[in-house]
Amino acid sequence: MSDTEIHKGLAGVVVDTTTISKVNPESNSLLYRGYPVQELAEKCTFEEVAYLLWHGELPTAEQLAEFETLERSLRPLDPRVKRVIDELPTTAHPMDVVRTAVSVIGATDATLNETDGITDRSLNERRAVHLFAQLPSIVAYDQRRRRGEHLIEPRDDLAFSANFLHMTFGDVPELVVVNAFDVSMILYAEHSFNASTFTARVVASTLADLYSAVTAGIGALKGPLHGGANEAVMHVFEEIGTADKAEAWLDTALAEKRKIMGFGHRVYKNGDSRVPTMKAALDTLIVEYDRPDLAALYESLETAMGERKKIKPNLDYPSGPAYHLMGFDTAMFTPLFVAARITGWTAHIMEQLASNALIRPLSQYVGPDERHVDER
Ligand code: COA
Repeated sequence: MSDTEIHKGLAGVVVDTTTISKVNPESNSLLYRGYPVQELAEKCTFEEVAYLLWHGELPTAEQLAEFETLERSLRPLDPRVKRVIDELPTTAHPMDVVRTAVSVIGATDATLNETDGITDRSLNERRAVHLFAQLPSIVAYDQRRRRGEHLIEPRDDLAFSANFLHMTFGDVPELVVVNAFDVSMILYAEHSFNASTFTARVVASTLADLYSAVTAGIGALKGPLHGGANEAVMHVFEEIGTADKAEAWLDTALAEKRKIMGFGHRVYKNGDSRVPTMKAALDTLIVEYDRPDLAALYESLETAMGERKKIKPNLDYPSGPAYHLMGFDTAMFTPLFVAARITGWTAHIMEQLASNALIRPLSQYVGPDERHVDER
């Protein structure tokens, strides 16, 4: 056996450079194109952050206006996409619906057949904006059809988050709710070479099209060790019930060697830099919806986990209950993550293509030595 060093799960392996974001576990910080994510969440809209991720700079007023006009014009669902969604059973997980809808959008994009249609930067920028504009329509419609409700058309007088909530619930909620939603989108937008972004870069590196890379990213995000955790957190809360039962529940779960959803992180070992900002947004929702019971449950599980395992919450821990309070069905939480991360994924796909090398690692073979069929 060779003494090749194996990096199981690629832990600690640096596979490329990036200018999009910097995750620093030592200082617990996260920068998008150099800007601290907390500052962006406080001072910018999700549209401005999307522009920043794609272009490297925050937009001028003129650039923002032009981008918003384009984004708002691309919101209505293509009837072909709607028809395919309508054909899918409501037993399908919403992530499967989102993945399928993105596939349909890709299959109907004739520009892929143009010369350089797959790698052209301006075509990919346009596709990124198109998916950014379409995902709220897809996710909102999917939640509504599951409840037996009709499609609500987008409003082009509303910004991204207000329109998303309008299309899901039929009205625009209080500003505090819209702001909390916008903050969650900004915090979920980008996080360096996480599993789904790396997946998208692997697919892009083969020179497959942007939609193939995005659908692969959606597949990776679905798992509970990645994006599926925000949904799983809500199931944990439902399983526990009330704050007084959190400690006993946790002791049993840890004795059964269960992973506690919404806690731990591959990179951050001293707390996720995004949690305080999302927790502050959750706190505003707890006041708005008068749910101190949920706050107590949140605190008691976090405290018990800290005492027993010294493991801190990740972003999914506050975002799960926040989406619940806003009125989203639990199964829609990870699709909301998709609607945010589409910005980071597409920025990474374009970065990969700008300096491409096929991503193809090696493995160490540990199976049987060479043998032959006739020797059995
Ligand atoms: N619940 C219970 N124990 C946990 C834990 C969790 N959420 N996260 C980590 N641990 C424990 C592991 O069991 C391991 O203990 P051990 O050394 O006794 O075996 C130790 O902490 C190190 O964990 P490890 O699995 O090596 O960390 P990782 O970097 O591979 O995993 C995650 C990171 C995110 C996959 C992991 O923390 C996890 O499964 N969390 C729950 C899912 C989640 O919230 N995902 C969203 C991530 S943003």
